[in-house]
Amino acid sequence: MNIDIITVVPELLDSPFSHSIMKRARDKGLLTVQMHNLRKWAINKHMQVDDYQFGGGAGMVMMPEPLANAIDELQQEKKYDEIIFLTPDGERFNQKAANQLSLKENILLICGHYKGIDERIRKQYVTKEISIGDYVLSGGELAAAVVVDAIGRLIPGVLNDETSALFDSFQDNLLAPPVYTRPADFRGDKVPDILIQGDPKKVEEWRHEQSLLRTRERRPDLLDD
Ligand code: ADE
Repeated sequence: MNIDIITVVPELLDSPFSHSIMKRARDKGLLTVQMHNLRKWAINKHMQVDDYQFGGGAGMVMMPEPLANAIDELQQEKKYDEIIFLTPDGERFNQKAANQLSLKENILLICGHYKGIDERIRKQYVTKEISIGDYVLSGGELAAAVVVDAIGRLIPGVLNDETSALFDSFQDNLLAPPVYTRPADFRGDKVPDILIQGDPKKVEEWRHEQSLLRTRERRPDLLDD
């Protein structure tokens, strides 16, 4: 899978994809992530990519020309399955959306800044708008990092034990069950016997039961879905 990211702060995205599972995905050639600094398509020598908003009001808006020129140029290299704008008024991101996006070949992410991007780019280019939650970040970069991480780990071959993503929280609309490692007795707090005994069928039943309990307690809305 190839992910291109248009941003005015590429430095913000240096680290998230250079470690751990994302690094492994890139090293294995299963995922490429490329940052594109929007200032490369700035309208003048002052590197301008934003301007005041029509109608007045505080905050700058990202201009349509640099974004359109950036997208046009990138589209000459690849046909994107989705052009995604990260924005707090987008569709709320969840595991189902991550699963769907992990099946795509080429994705372009656009990170907004300031007051957002000119509406005409949203209308003419963007195919999907994603919010990672009901709060406002200073820019779309951290949201892009979240989306790339959630998608990247689902690409077949990225996780060592391929089945492990199957048991993540949310994969079947349930939260994950509790997990334990050694010691079996930590300050008097013991690991449940069923896990110590290790009968696979009983362990599976216990985990499913615990998932249900935890979901009912913490996220009953998931069971309504
Ligand atoms: N940009 C600013 N806030 C955001 C959010 N909550 N989700 C996605 N992109 C954003």
